Amino acid sequence: MLLEIESLVVRYGAVEALHGISLGVAEGEIVSLLGANGAGKSTTLKAISRILPPSAGTVRFAGRSLDGFDPEDVVALGIAHVPEGRRIFPGLSVLDNMRLGATARRATSAQIERDVEEVLGIFPKLRTLGAKLGWTLSGGEQQMLAIARGLMAKPKLLLLDEPSLGLAPLVVKDVMQTIARIARDGTTVLLVEQNAHLALQIAARAYVLETGRVALSGEAKTLLASEEMRAAYLGSAVRVAASA
Ligand SMILES: Nc1ncnc2c1ncn2[C@@H]1O[C@H](COP(=O)(O)OP(=O)(O)OP(=O)(O)O)[C@@H](O)[C@H]1O
Ligand SMILES: [Mg+2]
Repeated sequence: MLLEIESLVVRYGAVEALHGISLGVAEGEIVSLLGANGAGKSTTLKAISRILPPSAGTVRFAGRSLDGFDPEDVVALGIAHVPEGRRIFPGLSVLDNMRLGATARRATSAQIERDVEEVLGIFPKLRTLGAKLGWTLSGGEQQMLAIARGLMAKPKLLLLDEPSLGLAPLVVKDVMQTIARIARDGTTVLLVEQNAHLALQIAARAYVLETGRVALSGEAKTLLASEEMRAAYLGSAVRVAASA
């Protein structure tokens, strides 16, 4: 496994958000992390990228424990995190937003420009928007830019947090196809989604989180067909509706 998480516990102060989850992602796979609001999906990604130091458990990447690593070390090791809500810089151009993704590497500016070109090959629309400022982009364009910036770190593993959120269905399809292409090109992907149906179309396997625990896991095909999955999702939908 490229990424191995074992008995991971994460707390926000006195509140335990992850109660000891274990999961793995093999090299070249797209694995999806599913679950309702508040299940702990973003918390898992933040613990992997060390934005949140875990209270217990281990995260290993390429056989190496990430204990004691800070977020910059993790990026340098080959893990890029595209956070929920995109967080692109509104006052910077598309190209400058992309260049920022290379900050953790010790690359020359010539190398960075070559990498911008290479990444733009996957995002033809961004090429046409290169000089535009971040805030002028549509939601879908911003999501593509956030992913492009993540790829500028030249990651072996890309962590994506709800890339479909708030996007129109056709745009979502485009984003999902782009993620599938990134994986085919050799980057391993851990994809957080609330939209299980969508994520299971492109993922090989998935884990379903429920209130900080892995409730269900398996091959995407099997999960798509499983009654238990449907029941779990109906259950989550009811809980979300009840708490809203
Ligand atoms: N900064 C924080 N302080 C305190 N509790 C938090 C904080 N961030 C998240 N939590 C809690 O941790 C739990 C997991 O949250 P997390 O954001 O990981 O869920 P999620 O699965 O990503 O949900 P969503 O689909 O809404 O993004 C929730 O109960 C949430 O309320
Ligand atoms: Mg989240």
